[in-house]
Amino acid sequence: MSPYHALMPLPKAELHLHIEGTLEPELAFELAARNGVALRYPDTEALRQAYRFADLQSFLNLYYELMAVLRTERDFEDLANAYLARAAAQGVRHAEIFFDPQAHIARGVSMGTVVEGLWRALEKSRQNHGVSTRLILCFLRDESADSALTTLEAARPHLDRITGIGLDSAEAGHPPAKFREVYRAAADLGLHRVAHAGEEGPPAYITEALDVLGVERIDHGLRCAEDPALVERLVRDRVPLTLCPLSNVRLRAVDSLADHPLPALLDAGLMCTVNSDDPAYFGGYAGDNFDAVRDTLGLGEDRLRELARNSFLASFLEDDEELRAA
Ligand code: ADE
Ligand code: ZN
Repeated sequence: MSPYHALMPLPKAELHLHIEGTLEPELAFELAARNGVALRYPDTEALRQAYRFADLQSFLNLYYELMAVLRTERDFEDLANAYLARAAAQGVRHAEIFFDPQAHIARGVSMGTVVEGLWRALEKSRQNHGVSTRLILCFLRDESADSALTTLEAARPHLDRITGIGLDSAEAGHPPAKFREVYRAAADLGLHRVAHAGEEGPPAYITEALDVLGVERIDHGLRCAEDPALVERLVRDRVPLTLCPLSNVRLRAVDSLADHPLPALLDAGLMCTVNSDDPAYFGGYAGDNFDAVRDTLGLGEDRLRELARNSFLASFLEDDEELRAA
């Protein structure tokens, strides 16, 4: 932990965080032993060595493989508690947490096991960690539209736990419009809507997510920088972007952190937020991402405060009371 965090972690909300991407190697081995699951790595160090990615897909391959250790409600509860403790130590006061039920259901782990397991940690999170939470169910965009609809049906008994829906996994070749119907159904159920767009996919996917899916935030949205008219629209409509700088470096969406467009996007007037995405895999939690953009991109205190303020404003916290408490 940097001295900056130890002295003064900036209070912030985290809006782009895949709970499965918080599985640290140590916990992966602990859960593997608990559940009798064999991993193809001899130890945590060997596993860490595998965290070198050429692109999004090469990361996703390992991300889905390691999920094999998550089997019971207690596993999901332990995973969420470990994340919440780390996030709290870095100043996170509110977390909107993505989960990927299709990846678990395909392994024979039910929607109920995942949601109720996560909920066991989330319902006590304010008390135990000082962090308020929301849950966002993500559909895998490389699965079919029918599978997404079936997944939403499976979530119905648990909707009191779920605030919104999202769209993640392999982006290229899987445009948002494929999920028009399930987003409409989710809107009818009163769920909030977000989607990954413009991480590896083209700026047109961002436009499509707004126009066809009616999303309220764009996850990543990095490639909007390639389309000035789109940037203008995002500024005008105050559409939040949940950027993930360390993720973009590790998945080679940018050549290096120094090349990240965050300063230009802020200068353009975009409502940017900074998040960790899959912190166990990408070398840092929310505060580490703030430190990195401060140190490498030279963002000053005003910009860091703006990012932190944006994170609360762009959250799905509902009223002033909740915002004040977060
Ligand atoms: N699932 C987990 N992390 C992801 C990312 N960065 N992009 C798309 N899908 C993901
Ligand atoms: Zn993501």
